[in-house]
Amino acid sequence: MALQVLSGRALLLLLPLLLGPQAPLAAAARRPALWPLPASVQQSPNVLHLTRHSFEITHGPHSSAGPRCFLLEEAFRRYHEYIFDYSVSSDDHLKSFVGKELQQLLVTITSDSECDAYPNSSSDESYKLVVQEPVATLEAKKVWGALRGLETFSQLVYKDFYGAYVVNQSEVTDSPRFRYRGVLIDTSRHFLPLKTILKTLDAMAFNKLNVLHWHIVDDHSFPYQSVTFPDLSSKGAYSPNHIYTHTDIKAVIEYARLRGIRVIPEFDTPGHTESWGKGQKDLLTPCYKGSEKTDSFGPVNPTLNTTYVFMSDFFKEISRVFPEDYIHLGGDEVDFHCWETNPDVTKFMQQKGFGKDYSKLESYYIQRLIDIVSSTNKGYMVWQEVFDNGVTLKKDTIIEVWIQSTYREELRRVTAAGYAAVLAAPWYLDYISYGQDWKKYYSVEPLNFVGTTKQKDLVIGGTAALWGEYVDATNLSPRLWPRASAVAERLWSPQKVRNLDDAYDRLTEHRCRMLRRGIAAQPLFVGYCEM
Ligand SMILES: *[C@@H]1O[C@H](CO)[C@@H](O)[C@H](O)[C@H]1NC(C)=O
Ligand SMILES: *[C@@H]1O[C@H](CO)[C@@H](O)[C@H](O)[C@H]1NC(C)=O
Ligand SMILES: *[C@@H]1O[C@H](CO)[C@@H](O)[C@H](O)[C@H]1NC(C)=O
Repeated sequence: MALQVLSGRALLLLLPLLLGPQAPLAAAARRPALWPLPASVQQSPNVLHLTRHSFEITHGPHSSAGPRCFLLEEAFRRYHEYIFDYSVSSDDHLKSFVGKELQQLLVTITSDSECDAYPNSSSDESYKLVVQEPVATLEAKKVWGALRGLETFSQLVYKDFYGAYVVNQSEVTDSPRFRYRGVLIDTSRHFLPLKTILKTLDAMAFNKLNVLHWHIVDDHSFPYQSVTFPDLSSKGAYSPNHIYTHTDIKAVIEYARLRGIRVIPEFDTPGHTESWGKGQKDLLTPCYKGSEKTDSFGPVNPTLNTTYVFMSDFFKEISRVFPEDYIHLGGDEVDFHCWETNPDVTKFMQQKGFGKDYSKLESYYIQRLIDIVSSTNKGYMVWQEVFDNGVTLKKDTIIEVWIQSTYREELRRVTAAGYAAVLAAPWYLDYISYGQDWKKYYSVEPLNFVGTTKQKDLVIGGTAALWGEYVDATNLSPRLWPRASAVAERLWSPQKVRNLDDAYDRLTEHRCRMLRRGIAAQPLFVGYCEM
């Protein structure tokens, strides 16, 4: 009884004495750390406490989304777990904390919720969060903003010196600087188990990243199981255990949707297609040595009608399997050497009047492919070479800029031509080096190129690309996190947020938080995490 008259603070000071060795020990303090930093944050020194048993996240009374909104119900459950560290230990002793308590977070969706929709290029991710006693409120136009606001709320909660969960009274108004914030994974060089992909989606949500660019097939293996062409994976995958069935793909897409993440599949052609050739006869160009056919094959054979019939059937299937509005068609690094050796290709070049310009042949192929994909009502993304080679593109084509040495000039050229650009060049995370290379990724300014405001508006975001030559399930997480977090803040937070010391402090804690949530993120530097 006497305890009740003590102030909360005094009580907590006494707790270790009163409760003995089971009491939360001092030094369990954690710092709150927001990552990526919201557009506007105001915090007061007034601290509220929350307990696992009495705090709840639920729908506001005027929300357009209710308990039938599975996406939010799932998010409420998840974030409750994150906030209280999945802890099952009782924190009932803290109920006698006499300080102010935060009892609820009420989440209100103010317009058509889009609960059952897929996120897309125009999804609204803005939100407003007010943390005050006794009820905090989170308002967003759409569920997508609510998801981002829940993440922010969870990042505001920390453990004080006595092990109590606390949150400062705060007001956050937030929306992303760029609407396309991607991570590229590569499941061809190494197969990534479903579990690894889902974990990556978790971590992306912790960093407010919203596009999974799934570079699903390439030269090395073809893990996508096609219903129309089952031989592609039965002959082109590493083994029958290294494939993604439609059930797997549905699982990835739904898991991503629940986190406000789009899944953009990449089926890269006409280069990078060696594995396609195993299960699809006559798709690739046979290479010649002199007048002799060799055993090796080059890019997709652009001279055969059968190629386009195949592509048409294949992309019809892809357009049904992936609800996403965009398909990435690749188009990078086409090696012309094999085409040059092939007499049928030479004849075709003559017929078409391409001279010796093989990029014209590449353009011819890509143009036909684009017509095929457009007819399925999908938009498309391509790597920059397709633009560089002068292929005729629809106005809503997105060009992904990847060549490091010239990317500023390329951004200028792409946007001057009126195309939207996604920047990947400075964020190839597969390149590793000694030291804190996150600072290099963090310091990039995507709009630092010569161009008008209209041109700058065409840069819609960027991608942290983790190519798979040296990456599989064993090292994907530590290589991606927290290095991709640096890219995440660059793409979400206002341009002026660029102080490296402040970023270091917040990112160090953010990394510890990712660890607590089960992501094997590597350390920034020496130190330790309060678990
Ligand atoms: C949160 O509250 C604590 C305790 O009053 C205070 O020391 C701290 O500065 C506050 N944090 C912020 C960001 O205002
Ligand atoms: C994005 O999704 C919403 C909800 O389904 C839809 O109303 C909107 O038209 C879509 N926008 C685009 C650009 O497809
Ligand atoms: C390929 O298709 C074109 C146009 O449809 C047609 O003119 C041509 O005869 C076809 N070639 C073969 C070998 O079938």
